[in-house]
Amino acid sequence: MNLSEEYFERCLKVAPGGVHSPVRAFKSVGGTPVFFKSAKGAHLTSVENEKYIDFCQSFGPLLLGHRDEEVEAVVHEMVSTIWTSGTCETYSLELAEWITSHVPHVEKLRFVSSGTEAVMSSLRVARAVTKKDKILKFEGCYHGHVDSLLVKSGSGLAGESSADSAGIPRATAAQTIVCPLDDTQAYMKLIEENKDDLAAVILEPLPANFGLLEQREEFIKTVCEEAKKRCILVIFDEVISGFRVALGGMAEKLGITPDLVTYGKVIGGGFPVGCYGGKKEFMDLVAPSGPVYQAGTLSANPIGMMAGLTTLKKCKRVNIWKILEERLLNLSSKYNTWAKDEGVHMRMKTYGSLFWFYGRDEEIRTVAKISKSHGDVYKDFFKKLMERKVYLAPSGFEVAFLGLAHDEEVLEKSLSVFKEASLYAEGKL
Ligand SMILES: Cc1ncc(COP(=O)(O)O)c(C=O)c1O
Repeated sequence: MNLSEEYFERCLKVAPGGVHSPVRAFKSVGGTPVFFKSAKGAHLTSVENEKYIDFCQSFGPLLLGHRDEEVEAVVHEMVSTIWTSGTCETYSLELAEWITSHVPHVEKLRFVSSGTEAVMSSLRVARAVTKKDKILKFEGCYHGHVDSLLVKSGSGLAGESSADSAGIPRATAAQTIVCPLDDTQAYMKLIEENKDDLAAVILEPLPANFGLLEQREEFIKTVCEEAKKRCILVIFDEVISGFRVALGGMAEKLGITPDLVTYGKVIGGGFPVGCYGGKKEFMDLVAPSGPVYQAGTLSANPIGMMAGLTTLKKCKRVNIWKILEERLLNLSSKYNTWAKDEGVHMRMKTYGSLFWFYGRDEEIRTVAKISKSHGDVYKDFFKKLMERKVYLAPSGFEVAFLGLAHDEEVLEKSLSVFKEASLYAEGKL
């Protein structure tokens, strides 16, 4: 038994499944999770003192890599200045002013401590604005563990929904309507039938929680236009894509102004920060200026505020979005060309600094199109990656994240490991 296995046995006694967030367990890939004790740049170091190249990057917050020097310096400074006060302070003001002056569709915002909180609060605002209760979401889009959004459509019966999780009241699940991605006809039918009850349509404008299911631009535009025509609010959940694909996220990329937007991950530079924002008239409904109650003991935590601000300023200064997109396109074109030549089915799909390995040589825009054997193939792919000390999320349906710290040398090494792991997973090695 190695050290990680010993730790995991102890964890199983004190935490459900041994973990504090489900995907950290290796349930879908098998084996025991490796325990990591430190991190720097593109690397994680395990308790066994083995160094792994890390493309999980804490599931997205670390756009600059682990412990970027500028962010680390500001965090040290903040640790010896102020931790939390529950009072007014200037740090959240600085981050709020920076965001509202750089992202035109965020006129006002409220900081919270996670993406889930941001989404939950944005739904409350949408319901208050419209005085309606129902929400339309898309199949395969994840919006955190908000009760009403842990829901998928049940057995094709319009208006009837069932929860993805135990413990969600049927009445809550029934408030959510689920629509397939990339299906304009289904969307038009659902939105028309439910227009009098729908407060909001919420979507990940770049769905990245069930693989990387980039949508056709026309589809997203239709979704937004048809909602607006019916006075239904459009909420862009940019918890992953916000500040990662562009400074203005997918809203900037698509040239669409959502009514409300939610952020998490990158906005806190590796610390627990979430945020929701949008049109001033809507955000002014939030307490204490309006009747929508929402609060948080650790909201706008000063360390998170300054880690986030330093991260965002550096991203802008170096134009990180261009650098990472180029690096990843270079990597994926080398990998995909090689895969075709070798008769390997696995392909690397990228968008900006996000990537996903999947098992088909075609664009995939819906959950249904993902190859049925993908989970099993990924299991072997992952096993070989771990042997070669390259860490991706322990699930074939999670995307991988590139950061500034993944330089040419790291990427070249990773490329050869990806190739070897693909051959192994497809029984060619
Ligand atoms: C698009 C999206 N929304 C919301 C969330 C929830 O964020 P958090 O895990 O910070 O609560 C996530 C988390 O992965 C996400 O990807």
